[in-house]
Amino acid sequence: MRKHIVAGNWKMNKTFEEAEELIDNLMTALEQTELDKNTLMVVCPPFPYLEMCSEYSEDSYFMPGAQNVSDQESGAYTGEVSAAMLQSLEIAYCIVGHSERRAYYGETDAIVAAKVNQLLAHDIRPIVCCGEVLEEREAGKQLEVVERQIRDGLFHLTAEQMGEVVIAYEPVWAIGTGKTATPEQAQEIHAHIRNLVKKQYGDKVADDLSILYGGSCKPSNAREIFAQPDVDGGLIGGAALKADDFMAIAKAF
Ligand code: 13P
Repeated sequence: MRKHIVAGNWKMNKTFEEAEELIDNLMTALEQTELDKNTLMVVCPPFPYLEMCSEYSEDSYFMPGAQNVSDQESGAYTGEVSAAMLQSLEIAYCIVGHSERRAYYGETDAIVAAKVNQLLAHDIRPIVCCGEVLEEREAGKQLEVVERQIRDGLFHLTAEQMGEVVIAYEPVWAIGTGKTATPEQAQEIHAHIRNLVKKQYGDKVADDLSILYGGSCKPSNAREIFAQPDVDGGLIGGAALKADDFMAIAKAF
């Protein structure tokens, strides 16, 4: 059975003290609640808090994740953070190709592919984001857009490498807007992604692939979205900033 993953993307939020408090609250909540054995919780704070998060995670049931990584190995790239650095902090997961990075920082599918290569070379699992903007959905191009992002960002990988990848479908019009995709809209795209992976890599890789939904996912709607057969969890933004909400989502399976 493929893994259920609930990942919190904190984006650019929280001071160090606030971050510690949130992690602390999450750990307390995790001690008091039993998550489904097949559900994995991933916490992706900003870079400066990764070491703290990684240390705390040793005594808890969540895995630390980063929000971004350099497409380069090492050297004169001021301000960048390499996959080797993340690996040295025992970071297990890293988000790649988030729509905010695509929109504000020019992250192309080719850059996404290079970042995925860096992560896999350092034993970090990429959480690769895809999703259409509102105009693309209104033009009925959502399947086509997601297909291009998946193909150009991932299909250079071997089947073994693809087995390490997590995909997150995040319709851009649903991110931070309070407007969630309907369970049927999410299922349609998730099934499409799994089919593409099946055609490229075969049944086993496709069946084992965790595909997460992201975009205004909250305790009140997580259950019906996660109930869809091809939705294997969530990539959570705003609701990951409160321990209670994030826990409630993680318990939605
Ligand atoms: P929201 O849950 O705040 O809509 O953000 C989703 C997201 O972008 C997670 O990566």
